[in-house]
Amino acid sequence: MRFRLTSILTLALITVFAQNPNMPSDFLRKEWHKERRQKLREKMPPNSVAVFFANAVRNRSNDVDYTYHQDPDFYYLTGYREPHAVLLIFKDKQKAPNGSLYDEIIFVQPRNPIMEMWTGRRLGNLGTKDQLGFEQAFNNTDFKDYNIDFSSFSQVLFFDFFNDVRDDARDKGDLYDLIEQFKNKANYPRKETLSVQREQPQNNLNTQVLTDIMDDLRGIKTPEELELLRKAVMISCIGQVEVMKAMKPGMSEREVQGIHEYVFKKYQAEDLGYPSIVGGGHNGCILHYIDNYKPALDPKELILMDLGAEYHGYTADITRTIPVGGKFSPEQKQIYDLVLAAQEEAMKICKPGTRFGELYEATARVINKGLAELKIIDKPTDRHLYYPHGCCHHIGLDVHDRGTYDVLQENMVITIEPGIYIQENTTKDPKWWGIAVRIEDDYLITKNGCEHLSSFAPRTTEAIEAMMMQPSPLDKFLLPELNKVTPGKN
Ligand code: GLY
Ligand code: MN
Ligand code: MN
Repeated sequence: MRFRLTSILTLALITVFAQNPNMPSDFLRKEWHKERRQKLREKMPPNSVAVFFANAVRNRSNDVDYTYHQDPDFYYLTGYREPHAVLLIFKDKQKAPNGSLYDEIIFVQPRNPIMEMWTGRRLGNLGTKDQLGFEQAFNNTDFKDYNIDFSSFSQVLFFDFFNDVRDDARDKGDLYDLIEQFKNKANYPRKETLSVQREQPQNNLNTQVLTDIMDDLRGIKTPEELELLRKAVMISCIGQVEVMKAMKPGMSEREVQGIHEYVFKKYQAEDLGYPSIVGGGHNGCILHYIDNYKPALDPKELILMDLGAEYHGYTADITRTIPVGGKFSPEQKQIYDLVLAAQEEAMKICKPGTRFGELYEATARVINKGLAELKIIDKPTDRHLYYPHGCCHHIGLDVHDRGTYDVLQENMVITIEPGIYIQENTTKDPKWWGIAVRIEDDYLITKNGCEHLSSFAPRTTEAIEAMMMQPSPLDKFLLPELNKVTPGKN
């Protein structure tokens, strides 16, 4: 008994110390990624190999790169978050030179203490084995000499290249080099023969199949993914709620963006799923407005805020439109309620078996009728001027996530996001000009219906106005005016 208690205590201590204090502990587990590779393998054609490359490092200017973001398919299958790597997954077991059998192999960037001092820790091949659970993990510089006969496979599956990977670093084993090595080994047709090749495949290269397989896999979320998505959605909702409380006329679009993004960071969301859209007044009519430059918001205008926290790779996609002054004008409320009614019409049929197209048709029906009643349009087709986008997409590792866009199935996570955008001079009556409303929520498709994941963020005009009356902790966060502070004096 005593021995067992000691053992349990020791185990608990080891578990505590085994956790890396530099990292959050709720990333997807290596076993989860391994299982995803197995699911992919099951869907691959007989005697095939699938080849995936890490995302490119993209240069911003001079010696500064954009923040690195792993390719979502690569991340899904590996958990690896560094650049310059290639993954091969085989349908059948392959024989290693030492006689052992394997059905997956990864080549990753090598450890390099000097580079790591500048740009951060690397897993290296040993870390990839240990922390990501790969039995066959090598340095990317070894890929060149990796002996593989791609012509022996019935199909070589990969995503085609868009020629946007530059030979910047000229390092052996960098992404450019890995792609070149692969092209050589797989007899990839070079530019002059590429169009012929695409029309009439002459070899075993297949750039289509992986799209279908990855759409199937990624479109249906596992419980582990749902846990991360729920966090991303809740964090994004809290951002909307805190902005509702903090909103004051005269704030800038950028400041509003900053409040949302501060909340995201406060809850450890490391990234944004897409650049934040924060548009006051007419700027809300620009569907993907990301300039966010307007210096002072007018109390009479609406502000459209479409933001998604990305939590451990998974992103929310939520839009709220609120009155800067805290109260909707009668015209703003009429348009708002119409968009809300459109969203609710789609929510009623948001369940397994419904087609994506039916969701859109439900929103369009309501918006057509409503715009005609308000005399904003004469004929239904004119609606496209005011509601020019689709209403629904998957979310996950991408904001417009992979998935089949046919029929809703259990454990898909989708958005419903109707909107109306009335630009200047597009209606006879100017009272509508500059009103832009989008309401976007995230839903988990359940066995018999859907779960409204983003309901924490108020959605009706009454609930928004009530939330905007609440005090905000930021009411007391007063910063000095920039032109009234002097270096060295505080
Ligand atoms: N945030 C982009 C979209 O709503 O689809
Ligand atoms: Mn969306
Ligand atoms: Mn959105």
